[in-house]
Amino acid sequence: MIRFLTAGESHGKALTTIVEGFPSNLKIEKNYIDFHLKRRQMGYGRGGRMKIESDSVEILSGIRFQKTLGSPISLLIKNNDWENWTDKMTPGKRPGNIENISIPRPGHADLVGSGKYNFNDIRNSIERSSARETAARVAAGSIARSFLQNFRITIGSFVESIGNIYPADNFLHKLFNNNLPFNFDAWQLAEDADRSPVRVLEKKQEEKIIRKIKSVKKKGDTLGGTFVTVASGLPLGLGSFVHYDKRLDTEIAAAIMSINAVKGVEIGTGFSSAEALGSKSHDQIIKEGNNIIRKTNRAGGIEGGISTGMPVIVRGAMKPIATLISPIATVDLSTMKNILARRERSDFVAVPACAVISESMLAWVIAKFMLEKFGGDSIEETKDNYNSYTKKLNNRIKRNFR
Ligand SMILES: Cc1cc2nc3c(=O)[nH]c(=O)nc-3n(C[C@H](O)[C@H](O)[C@H](O)COP(=O)(O)O)c2cc1C
Repeated sequence: MIRFLTAGESHGKALTTIVEGFPSNLKIEKNYIDFHLKRRQMGYGRGGRMKIESDSVEILSGIRFQKTLGSPISLLIKNNDWENWTDKMTPGKRPGNIENISIPRPGHADLVGSGKYNFNDIRNSIERSSARETAARVAAGSIARSFLQNFRITIGSFVESIGNIYPADNFLHKLFNNNLPFNFDAWQLAEDADRSPVRVLEKKQEEKIIRKIKSVKKKGDTLGGTFVTVASGLPLGLGSFVHYDKRLDTEIAAAIMSINAVKGVEIGTGFSSAEALGSKSHDQIIKEGNNIIRKTNRAGGIEGGISTGMPVIVRGAMKPIATLISPIATVDLSTMKNILARRERSDFVAVPACAVISESMLAWVIAKFMLEKFGGDSIEETKDNYNSYTKKLNNRIKRNFR
């Protein structure tokens, strides 16, 4: 069973994560983790913070000579901005000149956090609810991706829309129709998306989105959007229908929904399947040569809570950024007067980064189910178990019914 915990405040000294449960002898390279950390920082429409930070991981334990030891892996990502916040964020005695924040931003964790944790300073809520924490998740997710590479499972994502601007030819439909290149590899999608400053796959759409971000920014407003995350190379058989919490789709939905500001998750055709006929929703099972295949993948690679072996297709919706330069109404808790919300240095759009984070979350869930099914204390043992299962799988399905 793999698990990870993160710690760290947005303007604290560093973010840390402890990752546990991966087998030994798994190759992990610092550069690979840094590569994905950099990807999380990209995207047109980010605020000033990303110019200050240049995320890079320090591996503190669990890895020797670029290979896992089977022991807990601890990772550290320094916050460069900490230098500017040493007094405001000191774990020591409170300096006298620090002002409490009493004006909550609608759409953020400010008010609920202060109510729940009995804070008299909203800063205490802001610091941990900030999506800065997701850098630690990407570091943990990069370990999961390194593990999955051993089974040729790759993950990729692209931004489908920002501010309601969708592509003319949505790649999502190619995924549903299984109209994909031979040997489709989900990482190719991420590589294509990474070439765009807003991580979309169409140039015209990119131009429109950038224009829209510019005009919304001028008005002091923000935008959200949708993103698509895909995993390819999964074997049939991850997850189960035997219990609600054993279903692969249960965990994927929770993992994507756990990303800050994500308010909707869909697997396969999801919401639109609720509006379609059954005959147009399900993926027909057909025989091609000696194989049983599906021509379409509207199920998004999961049926009965179990992976079908086709790409897993997840779509997420991110709400607009809550911090507004032209703020909306709130109440100052120190005076109980109506007032406009506080401004804080902030992103205008973070859908591209959100998509990158979703890759890590999806990788994590798939790695968890892979290890649950194939186990092993060393990567060699996991691979042996995997090979034995996958080699016999097709014959077993056919033989059992004769
Ligand atoms: C990558 C990323 C960057 C974000 N940057 C900001 C930001 O700069 N300012 C802000 O107000 N919210 C930002 N958010 C959104 C907040 O973290 C989010 O609105 C907050 O956690 C409350 O959302 P919730 O209700 O989903 O928890 C960002 C989210 C993500 C995923």
